[in-house]
Amino acid sequence: MTATLRIGVIMGSVREGRLCDRVTAWVVRTLQGENGIQLRVIDPRTALPAVENGGGKSTKALKQLLAGMDGFIVVTPEYNHSFPAALKQLIDSAYDEWQTRPVGFVSYGAMSGGIRAVEQLRQVFAELHAVTLRDGVALTDIWSRFDDLGELIEPGRTDAALRRMVSRLRWWAMATRDARSVEPYDQVG
Ligand SMILES: Cc1cc2nc3c(=O)[nH]c(=O)nc-3n(C[C@H](O)[C@H](O)[C@H](O)COP(=O)(O)O)c2cc1C
Repeated sequence: MTATLRIGVIMGSVREGRLCDRVTAWVVRTLQGENGIQLRVIDPRTALPAVENGGGKSTKALKQLLAGMDGFIVVTPEYNHSFPAALKQLIDSAYDEWQTRPVGFVSYGAMSGGIRAVEQLRQVFAELHAVTLRDGVALTDIWSRFDDLGELIEPGRTDAALRRMVSRLRWWAMATRDARSVEPYDQVG
């Protein structure tokens, strides 16, 4: 099957003044024009159902949005050695929609580059039957990584790491999409 793969780029932060905007813009800019991939940014500021609205109309809209994706890139900062609460709320707002989808990570933070947030996210996505990728991007010292125009300073190895991750994401997204079309996952096991 060769149809375009739809990849959701999930923003992890809702903080005022978030650097997530810069990191996500770099991801989208770098991957624009990647063969056969269509990106859709999913921002919890607008996509997240209101807490008091659990199970209501906007939860349905978020689930429909996620269900239409063949894979995800989660762009997450590290907060106190974990990932932001808004990201957890977004993840917990769906269940079946995550199943069998590959998930790659672009993380950022101080010295760790957000890898502790990613390791915790792997546990969460395992519970949801999603497939997390080994390859990812971890941006250390995030405050010094972009210039005033939002361009990555020294992009070489970082751009290459993002492209490598997306190559693997593409493989898993195609493989799992094909497998779902042969046998629906909810009929397995
Ligand atoms: C509440 C809070 C906790 C943080 N804890 C960590 C941490 O444990 N490890 C780390 O590397 N950076 C930590 N940082 C730094 C963030 O990774 C950095 O500020 C980043 O820009 C946050 O993402 P955002 O600007 O998109 O919200 C923390 C920042 C905040 C606001």
